[in-house]
Amino acid sequence: MKTFSLISEMVKAVQKEHKAGHSIGFVPTMGALHEGHLSLMEESKKANDITVCSIFVNPIQFNNKKDLEKYPRNLKEDLRLLQSAGCDYVFIPENEEVYPEGTPRLDINFGSLDKVMEGKFRPGHFKGVAIIVKKLFEIITPDHAYFGKKDYQQLLIIRHLVSVLQLPVQIHASPTFREPDGLAMSSRNLRLTIGEREMASLIYQTLCKVKEKAGHLPVKELRRWAIKKISSNPAFTVEYFEIVDKNDLHILENWKEKENALACTAVFLGDVRLIDNMELFS
Ligand code: PAF
Repeated sequence: MKTFSLISEMVKAVQKEHKAGHSIGFVPTMGALHEGHLSLMEESKKANDITVCSIFVNPIQFNNKKDLEKYPRNLKEDLRLLQSAGCDYVFIPENEEVYPEGTPRLDINFGSLDKVMEGKFRPGHFKGVAIIVKKLFEIITPDHAYFGKKDYQQLLIIRHLVSVLQLPVQIHASPTFREPDGLAMSSRNLRLTIGEREMASLIYQTLCKVKEKAGHLPVKELRRWAIKKISSNPAFTVEYFEIVDKNDLHILENWKEKENALACTAVFLGDVRLIDNMELFS
């Protein structure tokens, strides 16, 4: 496994691979790797000759300075995991390498995709994600790139970016990886206290109950029920709980388009913000 921190070196390595006729799979990350990331690596390794992973805590996608400061970083362990997962190249650039002239412009209209849920509560977040993903795609030039469905809205934003800019990369989405008690795997889970970690599966349990009740209660009533259920534990603060269409994220008013129904939530547990989602009729 080779690691690069300079764009020029990374570009040289992937150009050589392309010239040799090798396909490139790419897993972009912000580090603090967990099994979810490793499952994306596995997908990439199955389908490509070469797998590249990036580790970069992208400052411009954090709308909250404290969240950026407290984002877990564990480079040594990440490199150990990537090595044993069979990663070929790791790209670990510094901020100045990625943004030598400050934040670049990106004028893409994401329509309603960046206005709801994460977009509404984390202003500027998706612009920051789109800028770094575009930049990483330009550097790595992957044939295939792999993302998790836990960040479902991010996945739609990236698909839109690729489609609008006609980028020559195929986007693949993998199911959310969960801990044995159902908590969606996330780098942020590392920030939970032992007590919070024990309670955290309430989010998954509520999503499962919502799935059971979907179609039996009116959408609005079910949404209210879910918020009340999570809020019944005072350690949790629900930022949003929405039942949306999984194609364009518009809020469902009834169960007419139920096969596309996706429940999405963002919740604070103490000061850690967790997100999760579940398809309700699949
Ligand atoms: O999902 C993430 O870890 C990040 O948002 C990504 C896609 C690596 C961009 O910084």
